[in-house]
Amino acid sequence: MKKIMLVFGTRPEAIKMCPLVLEARSRDCFETIVCVTGQHREMLDSVLQAFHVTPDHDLSIMDSEQTLYDISQKVVTGIRRVIESEKPDITLVHGDTTTTFAAAVSCFYSGVPVGHVEAGLRTYNIRSPYPEEFNRQAVDAIADLCFAPTETSRENLLREGKRPDTIFVTGNTGIDALRTTVRDDFKHPDLDWASDSRLVILTAHRRENLGNPMRRIFSAIRRVVDEHPDLKVIYPVHLNPAVAEAADGAFAGHPRIRLRAPLDVLSFHNFIARSYLILTDSGGIQEEAPSLGKPVLVLRDTTERPEGVAAGTLKLAGTGEAAVYESFKALVTDGVLYKSMSNASNPYGDGFSSKRIADVLMKWLNCK
Ligand code: UD1
Ligand code: UDP
Repeated sequence: MKKIMLVFGTRPEAIKMCPLVLEARSRDCFETIVCVTGQHREMLDSVLQAFHVTPDHDLSIMDSEQTLYDISQKVVTGIRRVIESEKPDITLVHGDTTTTFAAAVSCFYSGVPVGHVEAGLRTYNIRSPYPEEFNRQAVDAIADLCFAPTETSRENLLREGKRPDTIFVTGNTGIDALRTTVRDDFKHPDLDWASDSRLVILTAHRRENLGNPMRRIFSAIRRVVDEHPDLKVIYPVHLNPAVAEAADGAFAGHPRIRLRAPLDVLSFHNFIARSYLILTDSGGIQEEAPSLGKPVLVLRDTTERPEGVAAGTLKLAGTGEAAVYESFKALVTDGVLYKSMSNASNPYGDGFSSKRIADVLMKWLNCK
């Protein structure tokens, strides 16, 4: 029997790979192995629990002050050992993290074919997002199969010389989870706290935003919230200590800005479904928000998700204090602008991406 192995290590990879794990495991024509690197720990485990996925291998690499060097070298050698014991016919990696890059390199060195889920996203600015733009370009150079979420990502790959018969447009597997997580009867004490106000969801964690950009962004957000008493902000703070320090420094004690621990994915999807708008530097949230018709100000200088911008849901706010202040203020004061950004659209798929990927794998592996 043919064997496929899925490798992932951080929260967003898990949210987008678990639907594919479940789909693959439902097909008895191949054996499905799951290897997590543990680049994240609590944030990864929370997703594994939500999807009831138990990994076959866990490299448990996370360290509280891990660097790109630490993650890369532990994943390259750790995945080598797993490949030697499992001998997969193909390994699937996801997106653009250092787990993704290092796992793909390890497969390349071992001669194991690589399938890249969420292939072809680009900013073409190698330093933004950093190091993700490099990671995804490098993985696509290695990949034998590219699962592109949209036509735009397929075109990027074709322009770079990938063979058309190796690229499959599947939608984004992150949307698969949204089909089941958002519920009308969802309740949470934080949502009760915000029920008398317009709820803003904030997340921020990008490496290139740590330090001054994050301070500027947070200062702009605080000013707008101070000027609008009908806004309340919920900010599930990423577990990176540098992010927690910046968030505390900017917002601790503010009566209408609630800092809290990361939410489990089911809760987070319901929080964004109830929100008025979203402020984020996240990648995955830029894909989820258009499906739910929630305006997003992207707290970054670049985005690899132009489909959401074209759909009108996303606006690139930049990382300057004046720019973030003006964009945020405009969205809370200009009803016409708000309405124009609130239309639900589906640029990232219909929620059946995992099924399409599993179909391609069956053919590629000649499974019956
Ligand atoms: C990583 C990815 C980034 C992705 C993000 C999603 C890289 C280089 N970066 O960035 O592409 O957008 O994940 O969130 O691959 N920590 C915990 N517990 C956890 C998770 C993190 O304590 O469950 C803390 C640890 O101190 C860790 C730090 O956060 O050292 C940073 O984690 P790391 O994975 O290196 O970077 P992220 O910013 O999370
Ligand atoms: N998310 C979550 N809990 C939170 C914040 C985010 O489950 O408290 C989910 C969110 O729905 C999205 C993913 O985490 O699917 C985004 O992860 P993150 O922003 O850490 O990484 P990125 O997408 O930027 O790589």
